[in-house]
This record gives sequence, structure tokens and C-alpha cells, in this order.
Amino acid sequence: MTLHVLQDTFGRVHDNLRVSVTDRCNLRCFYCMPAENVQYLPRPEVLTFEEITRFVRVMIGHCGIRKIRLTGGEPLVRQNLERLIEQLATIPGLNDLALTTNGILLPQQAAALYAAGLRRLNISIDTLDRDRFQQMTRRDSLEQVLAGIEAARETGFHVKLNAVAIRGLTEEDLVPLAMLSRESGLEVRFIEYMPLDAERSWERDKVLRTETMLERLEQEIAPLVPLGDHAPSNPAVAYGFEDGRGRIGFISSISRPFCAHCNRFRLTADGKIRNCLFSTEETDLRSLLRSDASDDDLVLAVQQSISAKKEGHEINTARFLQPDRAMHSIGG
Ligand code: 5AD
Ligand code: SF4
Repeated sequence: MTLHVLQDTFGRVHDNLRVSVTDRCNLRCFYCMPAENVQYLPRPEVLTFEEITRFVRVMIGHCGIRKIRLTGGEPLVRQNLERLIEQLATIPGLNDLALTTNGILLPQQAAALYAAGLRRLNISIDTLDRDRFQQMTRRDSLEQVLAGIEAARETGFHVKLNAVAIRGLTEEDLVPLAMLSRESGLEVRFIEYMPLDAERSWERDKVLRTETMLERLEQEIAPLVPLGDHAPSNPAVAYGFEDGRGRIGFISSISRPFCAHCNRFRLTADGKIRNCLFSTEETDLRSLLRSDASDDDLVLAVQQSISAKKEGHEINTARFLQPDRAMHSIGG
């Protein structure tokens, strides 16, 4: 079998695929979803586990994809997700299978996910303050998320925590989350707020920049030292506190875009390929998967999408256009 490496016109090789398994969610984070009247995909439009598995198998076998991350919406609200994990985990050539979750359903599901072969979880938790959690997610579920993190650790998962950082809102969360990292040994990653919200209320002024966060953490806790141990394609730049306790990552999507090293593309829950989080165009894979298209036809469609990938997201230019879809429907 010849390998069709997914290289774009800027020389970036794509070996990292993010697969959204649902656009549904049991939270309503304001930076990702509308408060109500969410227009969910009609069920028949959502790819089946068989369709996802075939696509992933082709991407691994023919295109050298090595990393798969399952996302949502909230992936754990998809019924029987462990069956998909089981199918994916055994595909030869897959080095890394991970999942991003809000953690709410982990107390019930962690054991089954682990048994199915999953080992790595990113759990989103923006604040340890109950009121702010409710304000940001429009649900009162902080306790469940904390229980989810605990369940994941007890089950034996490798866990990282993700926090979206928003200026004028989450400054007071920086220290408590960093202290949580120092106490638990888990890496906490702060993500700069990106223009992917359903209500289009993103403004540049609401971005809490990495530099500001670093300053505050250093002032209030201890000096932070860059760890310099991350791959260039990993958007999180990691720091450790000088005394060796705590590991903090920063995903500086706005203040230091990492597009030049991007190695990822996405499959949405309804089977569209997006070559960038901020794509304004998509390639329809579902209709190919539901026709008698060959594996080569699938590869060709993905190659075309990757060839059309732009140099970067252009958020910092006047040319930037916010995508039509909000984050929950793209897949984080
Ligand atoms: N900006 C930054 N991060 C976001 N996420 C969702 N929406 C946004 C946004 N607008 C993050 C979530 C989660 C992952 C799925 O994506 O917090 O960690
Ligand atoms: Fe749900 Fe995640 Fe979006 Fe929050 S960020 S609404 S948890 S999909």
C-alpha cells in the first residue's frame, strides 16, 4: 500500500485527526454554545460508529495518521461510546487515542472507557468557583466535573485539565487552578478564548493573554520556567514552577498563533472534513462514505481538503471571518 502523506502547500504534514462524535452537550458554555434553542443535527446526519471506524482506518492505513482525538459537543453523551473506542483502539498504526470531555459523565463511564482501550483524557474545567462555573456553563455541575476528574484518576487515566481563560471573568481562577496542578500533579492548560462562540460575542478585549496569565501566576505563586519539552506541533507551551511542583500549559491561539506547525484536521459529527478550526469551507465525506466510494476516493477527498488549507487563521487581521458553525458543532 502506498502511503499518501497529507502534506499541504506550506509543507505541513498532517498526522493528527480530531473526530467529533456528536454536536450535543450537557453543558452550555457561553463560548461554545447558544443558551437555548440549540439546533442539533438530525440523527440520520450523524456518522455511525461503522462509518467513523472505516474512515479512521483508511486515514491510519493510507495517510499515516498517528493520533486520534475524540471530541464533541460532549463525546460521552453519545450512547455506547466505548464501542467506538474498542473498534478504534485496535487499529494497527494508531499511536495515540485520546478524548476531550467536560467530565460530567466520567463517574459512570470511566471504567468502561478504560476497559475499551482509552488511556488519555483531557477534562475541561474553567473555574473551581461554583457561581462562576454556573455563569460560564449555564449549568450547576461543578461537583460532577470534580467527581469526574477523581473517577478518571482512580481508573488510571492520564489526565490533563483544560481551562478557557477570559479577560474580566477568569482572572481569579488562575491561582486556584494552578494550585490544583501543584497539589494533584495534573497538567493544567489555559486556553486563550477564541472567536468560536455561537452568539458572536467574542471580542479581542476579552482575551486573557498568556503573558498576563504568566505574570499573575509568577507574582502570586512562584517563578515559572519553560519546560521546553513539547513537540512543535503541540499548541500548549509548558511551564513548571521553579520548585518543581505544578505543570502549567498555555495555548496561545490569539497572542502566539501556532498555525505554522499545525498538523491537525477535523471530521465533524456529520461527516465533513475541516482543514482548520476556522475553515469557512468543508469537504463532505459522509456522502462518499454512504456511496460506493473506494478507500482511494476517500483519500483523494481528504488530500484535496488538506491542499486547500490556508496558511493560518488570520484572527489578528482584518480578513478574519468567524466560521458559521460554533465550537460544539465543529468539535473542540
Ligand atoms: N475558545 C477557546 N476554547 C474553547 N473551547 C470551546 N470553545 C472555545 C473557545 N471559544 C474548548 C473547551 C474545551 C475544548 C473542547 O475546547 O473548553 O476544552
Ligand atoms: Fe459542552 Fe464543551 Fe461546548 Fe462546554 S465547551 S458547551 S462542555 S461542548
